[in-house]
Amino acid sequence: MNRIRINSPGGESLIILGGTVDDVVTLLPQRGLFIITDRNVQKLYGKKFPPGEVIAIEPGEKSKTLRMVEEICSKMLEAGADRSSFILGFGGGVVCDIAGMVASVYMRGVRHAFVSTTLLSQVDASIGGKTGVNLGEYKNTIGTFRQPEFVLCDHAMLTTLPEAEVRSGMGELFKHAVIRDRNLFFDISASAGHIIAADTAVTGDLILRAVRVKAGVVRHDPLEKGQRRILNFGHTFGHVIETHSGIPHGVAVAKGMAIAAELSVWKGEMAHSELRLLQTALEKAGLMTCHKLPPDVVSMISRDKKSESGRVNFVLLKSVGRTVIRKISTTELQAFVNYYNEKESQSQ
Ligand SMILES: NC(=O)c1ccc[n+]([C@@H]2O[C@H](COP(=O)([O-])OP(=O)(O)OC[C@H]3O[C@@H](n4cnc5c(N)ncnc54)[C@H](O)[C@@H]3O)[C@@H](O)[C@H]2O)c1
Repeated sequence: MNRIRINSPGGESLIILGGTVDDVVTLLPQRGLFIITDRNVQKLYGKKFPPGEVIAIEPGEKSKTLRMVEEICSKMLEAGADRSSFILGFGGGVVCDIAGMVASVYMRGVRHAFVSTTLLSQVDASIGGKTGVNLGEYKNTIGTFRQPEFVLCDHAMLTTLPEAEVRSGMGELFKHAVIRDRNLFFDISASAGHIIAADTAVTGDLILRAVRVKAGVVRHDPLEKGQRRILNFGHTFGHVIETHSGIPHGVAVAKGMAIAAELSVWKGEMAHSELRLLQTALEKAGLMTCHKLPPDVVSMISRDKKSESGRVNFVLLKSVGRTVIRKISTTELQAFVNYYNEKESQSQ
């Protein structure tokens, strides 16, 4: 078992990697527990839930709304939750985002923690204290920063994940390597088959190394004023693709990374050979989906959180493992989108 601590002005967060879900009860207060989960996770793991009030939401991205936050708060109020209550988010990224948000706002904030049950949430969504819900088609537009007291990642739970969700998690696993750790990138690429086959020993080691990358970034910039932006690599295009196509988050991020890497070459920041390296690894992992960018991509991006006064903060690559942040005007972005879509049309 490995423990990683993230200390931030919002408090300390302990990430327990390779622990067992059976131990969660020892980390929780003895009363006042509210478990927020989704119906799939409840069906699979309900027997492992510690004693507490269970609130189960519909699985999937469509549940990430302010209305859902309100509904959960109402259920908690009815069940007698007060400021001393404790919320345990038990699920994947959707559950963690919503449970964290509820914990931030219910009675101006209550204690919370996660049992993280998907590859994507163990490697990314449950870690770092970002919470959020979507505003119509705009992802995570409403949210807060609030560190969970602990995050328990039992890798054995990943064996029940559908393959499509494992692949999605691989997208964010790759992202951590691509922004900061070239060796990890090669190791993920070489282990794609083991990850898909739910080999928990191999996957657990890769998750640990990716979480070290994320924790290192979050410790220095918990509120995303600067350096933490690199964790958004691939997300600017990825969010648009996710919204338009409905493909899983991590798969959309992988495609977004490939497009951001093309933009890096187009801007003269990165050599073409590095782009090929990334594309080949994503292809091998089954993550190079074919997607033209929709006509409204630039206007969607301008409304994204990464945009300031008509210019977009883009995380680009210098090479696999090294990033640079550049401001790009919407005019220049439109020129790139035209170039990219033209190229995609020719290759289809
Ligand atoms: N807050 C952050 O920092 C952050 C970072 C990255 C992603 N996210 C968010 O995370 C979300 C995606 O998370 P996700 O990919 O975990 O999706 P998810 O939570 O929807 O889970 C995917 C599916 O797997 C099911 N599931 C969960 N655990 C399972 C298990 N152990 N076995 C079988 N099925 C299981 C769920 O019911 C769901 O159907 C997105 O909304 C994204 O925006 C947040």
